[in-house]
Amino acid sequence: MWEEIRPQAAADLDRHDRAYRRWVREQRAGGRFVALVAEDPNGRPVGSGALWLMPYQPRPGPLGRPEMPYVLSMFTEPSYRGQGVASAIVRGLVRWAREHRYGRVVLHASRQGRPVYERLGFEAGNEMRLELVRAGPAPRRTAPASRR
Ligand SMILES: CC(C)(COP(=O)(O)OP(=O)(O)OC[C@H]1O[C@@H](n2cnc3c(N)ncnc32)[C@H](O)[C@@H]1OP(=O)(O)O)[C@@H](O)C(=O)NCCC(=O)NCCS
Repeated sequence: MWEEIRPQAAADLDRHDRAYRRWVREQRAGGRFVALVAEDPNGRPVGSGALWLMPYQPRPGPLGRPEMPYVLSMFTEPSYRGQGVASAIVRGLVRWAREHRYGRVVLHASRQGRPVYERLGFEAGNEMRLELVRAGPAPRRTAPASRR
């Protein structure tokens, strides 16, 4: 996913993979991570996405739970794109959040992901940000990138 979204970070991807796997294991052990995987008829994974129950500050009203469902790690194998795989996964994750009585689902969209989310009813909110570090260009991989 990151190779497509932010190619300039390619040099960091192997380190990132290890850190991300460790993090996912911790989140799963804590019951804060739900994922859906789409398979082809032979059981080969062709797309996936996850919902992380992100820690959230207490606030009044229907969003008062101490965690917020956050969609992440959306990826569809290129040859399976445009067939509704990601849309089905996001719908499944939203259904899960609804069934568990969460009041909102959030995410940060890539350029490719935005139309998928918009079509499913996601809208831009009022988040602002201040960049304290600008991601500069990093060396590209010299060997062909492995699939991730
Ligand atoms: C973004 C991404 C996950 C979308 O995956 P996808 O499985 O192709 O998504 P969908 O098929 O559900 O929707 C994509 C397109 O297919 C169309 N589509 C949806 N259901 C369809 C169906 N049943 N038949 C044909 N086309 C369909 C949609 O209209 C959409 O068209 P658009 O791109 O012109 O707006 C995929 O492009 C990807 O992995 N990109 C790289 C990583 C990335 O950016 N991840 C998102 C991080 S936020």
